[in-house]
Amino acid sequence: MDRYCVFGNPVAHSKSPAIHAAFARQTGQRLDYDKRLAPLDGFAAAVHAFIAEGGKGANVTVPFKLEAVRVAQALTIRAQAAGAVNTLHFTDDGIIGDNTDGAGLVADIVNNAGVPITAKRVLLLGAGGAARGVVLPLLEHRPRQLVIANRTVATAAALVERFAALGGAGVVSALDYADLAGPFDIVINATSASLDADLPPVPASVFECGTLALDMMYGEQPTVFMQFAADHGALTRDGLGMLVEQAAEAFALWRGVHPDTAAVLAQLRAGA
Ligand code: ATR
Repeated sequence: MDRYCVFGNPVAHSKSPAIHAAFARQTGQRLDYDKRLAPLDGFAAAVHAFIAEGGKGANVTVPFKLEAVRVAQALTIRAQAAGAVNTLHFTDDGIIGDNTDGAGLVADIVNNAGVPITAKRVLLLGAGGAARGVVLPLLEHRPRQLVIANRTVATAAALVERFAALGGAGVVSALDYADLAGPFDIVINATSASLDADLPPVPASVFECGTLALDMMYGEQPTVFMQFAADHGALTRDGLGMLVEQAAEAFALWRGVHPDTAAVLAQLRAGA
């Protein structure tokens, strides 16, 4: 049976094995998908050991997404743009590094939430790895504007410079939270603030009735960002749909079949 896994540290909480098992059942693919705790200083060795055991591919989660860029022998364009790898494919031509996070986010917004990105005003909160990974896929949908807000504005400005050269000129801009004036059609929280039950210092004026407010994080309860957005008229969404969609993109890359994500997302939401 073809073997896949997710590398992380910690990794015990990962929902990826359940998601990929559901995809495999649904598509009739025979595969085995595990979680693997890689030592903090032993990610590359863990990948090579898995390949030696016959591994065909792997997902990569915190904190190894940057190191996975170096482990890969070739990168897809979207992995190059993201500067991070969440999917490895072990092929006869070597280790290919891809990044399916942005495509997963966009698929969740457009297909699952039913909100088109084209011609919309989009606000991206945060300028770290999570934000960088989704800029190119967002730009590919041609929003009217893509504003990146970050506490450290210089980091957001550096992202703007990077993506202006990749088709974002005239669309993408950087702002301080204090200078944000809304409203926006789509607001995406790509900061790690929710991990600390914290709220990015975003003014309520970025939301209007019907704004889609999406937090890349997910948990048992809505995040503080989702609560704040809902209090100001937004429709809210957590990161579970993005998680399932990025997994589906990886599954399609490995197996050549794109699973039906709606059924699996519904199962996860129901706690199955
Ligand atoms: P990740 O890989 O999850 O993106 P990261 O690269 O460390 O992690 O980036 C974290 C992002 O969350 C940064 O944009 C950070 O803002 P700064 O660059 O100004 O530090 C942002 N962030 C973290 N905690 C935050 C908070 N409480 N409020 C607002 N932004 C926060």
